[in-house]
Amino acid sequence: MRVLLGVTGGVAAYKVAIVLRRLKEDGHVVRVVPTPAALEFVGRATWEALSGLPATAHTFDNVPAVEHVRLGQQADLVLVAPCTADFLAQLAHGEARDLLGNAVLATRAPVVVAPAMHTEMWEKASTQDNVATLRARRFTVLDPAVGRLTGPDSGPGRLPEPEEIVAAAYAVAAGEVPDYPRLSERAWGDLDGLRVVISAGGTREPIDAVRFLGNRSSGLQGFALAEAAHERGAHVTVVAANVALPLSEGIARVDVTTAAELAEAVRDASSTADLVVMAAAVADFRPREVSATKVKKDGSGAWTLELVETEDVLASLVREAVPGRTVVGFAAETGDDASSALDHARAKARRKGADLLVFNQVGENRGFGDVPNEVTLLDASGAEVGHAAGTKLHVAHAVLDAVAALRTP
Ligand code: CTP
Repeated sequence: MRVLLGVTGGVAAYKVAIVLRRLKEDGHVVRVVPTPAALEFVGRATWEALSGLPATAHTFDNVPAVEHVRLGQQADLVLVAPCTADFLAQLAHGEARDLLGNAVLATRAPVVVAPAMHTEMWEKASTQDNVATLRARRFTVLDPAVGRLTGPDSGPGRLPEPEEIVAAAYAVAAGEVPDYPRLSERAWGDLDGLRVVISAGGTREPIDAVRFLGNRSSGLQGFALAEAAHERGAHVTVVAANVALPLSEGIARVDVTTAAELAEAVRDASSTADLVVMAAAVADFRPREVSATKVKKDGSGAWTLELVETEDVLASLVREAVPGRTVVGFAAETGDDASSALDHARAKARRKGADLLVFNQVGENRGFGDVPNEVTLLDASGAEVGHAAGTKLHVAHAVLDAVAALRTP
């Protein structure tokens, strides 16, 4: 078979010379496509001598042959080893920054990826989300080995041994797909055509020309929900409050700043929706007066702001219920002397009356930002109907699983 062997920039690239030799010994035609960074580790001469073929790294190296398309089209199998965290991200986002990126985009062949990186990078939520995305799209992403890394450190992130990489490549070429937890495989298409509106991020309420009242919401969980719903076949609109993150093509996006703008955008988008998820952290209060100029210190040593309540969008959605429309709320709670965070969430579930309330305990390193999340799913009576812990994408799929179960008569 014709194997396109992508090599990206990691120290473990030297081990892939052994993978290449093994494939060649077994009679396969192997074309090596290193990324420019990979050539900092193992030079072009090594790849060309071992493969007997050119090993170009740049999209513009051999333009008349249109290699950036042809290489991917002609391959029977694509194997990327070692695959850096950066290249995993490129793959997950369909980027084509170099010849290898182009070749993977242009291929219909199965793709096997052997990651190698430091443990911190492997365990980063963004990397784990990229792996989950790729596995959901039927890339075979091998788990890295656990052991000694480049420096004195050790842990998960080591490139699997060459024999294991070759064995995985042959298994995939033979149509055997390793049994990885492909998160959305069971779910693929189960939300086909569903119209979904998701609010995400945190609102900002202006105080004066330069100041605002805000919160720490990053928008990551809401955006993960949008990606998961999109992947499962839904038509997704995101109402994004101050989120500087991208969304996949095909997801509609309305950017807003304040709670009032968010309320209006959600109302507009949700009149025909089947599912509305209020993942945004919406300000409960806004300053009654907004100064058009920057407020100066007046020497009194204090500044009293008068705040007025904003519209509770979730409550409005529940009050103005539409038959067949499912409403999901979020509750970020902390415990106190009187009650645990979960008790507060149960009370909120009953008070808010949403079909589902996603409760997560927030605090140091929990809930906000690029960190794993842990949620408990409560129905309108406050009863627990699910629990999920893991990356925000994993949690997103668990929420959608619960929604799908609720909507199934
Ligand atoms: N929410 C909303 N509109 C608001 C405030 C909150 O739609 N003005 C939604 C959030 O998007 C979330 C849910 O309500 O889905 C719970 O938000 P939270 O701030 O935890 O609850 P509060 O309504 O502020 O309740 P409490 O003040 O009692 O904690």
